[in-house]
Amino acid sequence: MSDDRAAARIRQLRDEIARFARAYYQFDAPLIPDADYDALYRELQQLEAQHPELLSADSPTQRVGGAPLAGFAPVTHGVPMLSLHTETGDSAQGAAEFDQRVRARLGLEDADAAVHYQAELKFDGLAISLRYEDGVLVRGATRGDGETGEDVTSNVRTIRNVPLRLLGAPPRLLEVRGEVVMLRADFERYNARQRELGRATLLNPRNGAAGSIRQLDPRLAAQRPLTFFCYGWGEVDGWDAPPDTQHGMLDAFAEFGLPVSREREHGAGAAFLAAFHARVAERRDALPFDIDGVVYKVDSLRLQRELGYRNREPVWAMAHKYPAQERSTRVLAIDVQVGRTGRLTPVAKLEPVFVGGVTVTNATLHNADEVARKDVRVGDRVIVRRAGDVIPEVVAVVAEARVGDPPRFDLAAQLGGHCPVCGSAIERPDGEVDWRCTGGLYCAAQRKQAILHYASRRALDIEGLGERLVDQLVDRGLVEHLPDIYALRAEPLLELERMGEKSVANLLAAIDASRRTTLARFVYALGIRHVGEATAKELARHFGSLDALLAADAAQLEQVSDVGPVVAQSIALFFAQPHNRDVLQQLRGSGVHFPETTVERVEQTLAGRIFVLTGTLPTLARDDARARIEAAGGRITGSVSKKTDYVVVGADAGSKLERARELGIQELDEAQLLALLAAR
Ligand code: IVH
Repeated sequence: MSDDRAAARIRQLRDEIARFARAYYQFDAPLIPDADYDALYRELQQLEAQHPELLSADSPTQRVGGAPLAGFAPVTHGVPMLSLHTETGDSAQGAAEFDQRVRARLGLEDADAAVHYQAELKFDGLAISLRYEDGVLVRGATRGDGETGEDVTSNVRTIRNVPLRLLGAPPRLLEVRGEVVMLRADFERYNARQRELGRATLLNPRNGAAGSIRQLDPRLAAQRPLTFFCYGWGEVDGWDAPPDTQHGMLDAFAEFGLPVSREREHGAGAAFLAAFHARVAERRDALPFDIDGVVYKVDSLRLQRELGYRNREPVWAMAHKYPAQERSTRVLAIDVQVGRTGRLTPVAKLEPVFVGGVTVTNATLHNADEVARKDVRVGDRVIVRRAGDVIPEVVAVVAEARVGDPPRFDLAAQLGGHCPVCGSAIERPDGEVDWRCTGGLYCAAQRKQAILHYASRRALDIEGLGERLVDQLVDRGLVEHLPDIYALRAEPLLELERMGEKSVANLLAAIDASRRTTLARFVYALGIRHVGEATAKELARHFGSLDALLAADAAQLEQVSDVGPVVAQSIALFFAQPHNRDVLQQLRGSGVHFPETTVERVEQTLAGRIFVLTGTLPTLARDDARARIEAAGGRITGSVSKKTDYVVVGADAGSKLERARELGIQELDEAQLLALLAAR
């Protein structure tokens, strides 16, 4: 590249990087993914290295981040907070290059012994310094531009694993450094809640951490759960015999009660470093927080001092990165997928992009509100995140890259108001963020979930009908709708994975046993939205029979205790679908019945009532009568008193009847008792 072109490119890169850095550090609003930013940064570093005459103090490579926000007091770091030299790529090569560089700088020959290192995680959060004086936390500061950070003491104090006082005998002054992160689970929980409330979500855990630490209101900061990990130190004074290795220092910090990740090892030579890099790569998705790589550090502090710094980066350390968990790519289309509960999820079809170690072509957009808030449109360049085992998601649009004015996404219009899988009407209940398919049991996408729910313990309790089996049954077309469960025969089942003679026999027996159930379990088993176990029981008690329930309109449904307009509407809508009615008909045709309905129906309706039985009833055995009364919440006592509500009278009644008549207590014969039990 000619000097002129290099100078022009350098100017352009500096401007761009400064703008991106400002958006990122000062406003917590990144414009491009880190990997893209890193690429620009590396390009600038390389050009400046090739053209040292063009280097200037105001280049973004000469400082680390942005200036402090107006709201926080500035803090000057006694020892600057620098950054690490970073490499991405093959583990063996990156480790070998670092080891070679270290050995060369130390003047070691091939024959000399291997250098000892400590390998650590590269936490993907926000660098922070904690100052302890006489063991007491007196200040927390961000890195800022490396020289001057922000005083965020009050926010740091809200981080639960940051000790406010150190244990043991810490030095008079100890400034520890480390990273503040948001655990993935905390991040997911926070975002799920925000989405439910229709509020803005955090882009990623790192932004969550950065945003919380730099939140001016510490009470808001405290609501966002953060975690701290120590990896280094700044100013230290008054430590009689400090450790002389990196790993010894971190061990000592842990003894002082400071949080130090256990995911660190020390060993010798490049092979040790490469093995650590590879091992952590395997475990990356399983870690509870995001990392963007590992860090290699010369273990001996004497050698660290000898190696020193170059270009404001330690020569004794290096960050070895993994493939980015966020990349930008283009949206080719926005499809809608039907989830297992009928939820309609917009999904971005993407130009394939390698992110988080896999090639991603689909990313969730969560719901129509999210698409609207992020304003994602077909053709847009978007930032895609894939971290941990979480499904890839579109986190933001690169607004500046939009070409023209593509139409806004409109879920209902795109689907023409119908479920893309089964064609049923779609609805968006008031106050909810999700559109749903009303197809219920008829909708193929919802079938697996529907079958699992139907078979679950508190529903029809078909033991053995679990996820693996249901997957196979539906995928092979053996079960399309619920009634097909009752048509299953041994032969095709024997061909399925993990289905021997015994499991097949057990399964068929469990299916057969499920035919005899209660109306409450059955109603619950149908998986009607908003109808949990308690509501199903209320419905069964109120209506007494499936036919009565099917005949009820929304107003009648609202008569049931605990059933409000939303639930009533959901039930009415479910039973109004002809497909669902077919399914019910077929289930009954397969022998599903509810012998205990009568008992259930009167359950608790006689709560607190006191009965006395006397004489022999024409058809009911005494125990039977007692059981029914008790099932309905009534109590049986042996003698008549003023508290007795009813006396049930059979043939050859004795003195109890006389006493009851004296007290004017209501008499019931068997028919009247049954009528009472059957009444609501
Ligand atoms: S040591 C002088 N160790 O990575 C070097 N840094 O560019 C001090 N980071 O923002 C850094 N994990 O916050 C070190 N185990 C680790 C780290 C780590 C994450 C961050 C650090 C800094 C960046 C370095």
